[in-house]
Amino acid sequence: MSSELYDSFIADYYDESPVVQGRLQDVAFYRDAAREFGDPVLELGCGTGRITMALAEAGKRVTGLDVSERMLERAVQKRAALRVEARERVHLVQGDMTRFELGDTFRLIIIPFRPFQHLLEVQHQVHCLECVRKHLAPGGRLILDVFQTDAERMHDPVHHREEVISEYSTRDGRQVRISERVAAFHRAEQRNDVEMIFSVEHPDGRKERLVFAWTLRYFFRYEVEHLLARCGFRVAALYGDFDRTAIRDESPEMIFVAESR
Ligand SMILES: C[S@@+](CC[C@H](N)C(=O)[O-])C[C@H]1O[C@@H](n2cnc3c(N)ncnc32)[C@H](O)[C@@H]1O
Repeated sequence: MSSELYDSFIADYYDESPVVQGRLQDVAFYRDAAREFGDPVLELGCGTGRITMALAEAGKRVTGLDVSERMLERAVQKRAALRVEARERVHLVQGDMTRFELGDTFRLIIIPFRPFQHLLEVQHQVHCLECVRKHLAPGGRLILDVFQTDAERMHDPVHHREEVISEYSTRDGRQVRISERVAAFHRAEQRNDVEMIFSVEHPDGRKERLVFAWTLRYFFRYEVEHLLARCGFRVAALYGDFDRTAIRDESPEMIFVAESR
């Protein structure tokens, strides 16, 4: 499915990017959730293990599943750097979140930082939720976050223009500027083709322009509630941000905590 997408330069830039580094609140949120609902935890779309490793360090047994070999290679390196006890709590699996069979059940299944928005077709979303349901222990919870869709980002041509979202230097001395643009709107399909453009200047002066082009699926609140209901879940809580505030018009997130019906 989306494997080729992250099996690219993005795996090397992911962890150091301020876009990712700035996301500390979600790590704390998922750590608290693991304390509340218990382990083992399954993280779908675990990527480089940003959340996976934090949960293992907090004493939880975690399985991280991702389709991308290169993202998982990073996760393997990060696992190797953990203390032995934490390291032994992490299990990494290459797989597709729309069709997996792990032969185990989990107290908590999480889908942090948008992997669900890579599932463009309703059938893929349903297959993913069906797999989740099979892997959930009795009384367990599913938590997934998607952004709350801003209507203006669905059509306003101003978003076709590149907008700089971050500038930073990497540990090995590359200067990086990240900008973003919407290449195309597909309102009928609830998709945007998005480009994240990395303008890189290497320490030897060489310049490079790398484009991470992907299609995101945006969701609406009641669509997700219906989708969850269709797949046998009930929404136990819905937050508008990682501080657990209720969802409001201006909330950046839609964080669904669901349980089996
Ligand atoms: C934005 S990253 C999030 C990574 C991690 N959860 C985090 O919070 O940093 C999205 C991840 O979803 C993964 N992904 C996309 N589609 C997937 C699929 N069908 N099955 C498994 N992983 C998938 C990508 O490979 C990528 O690592």
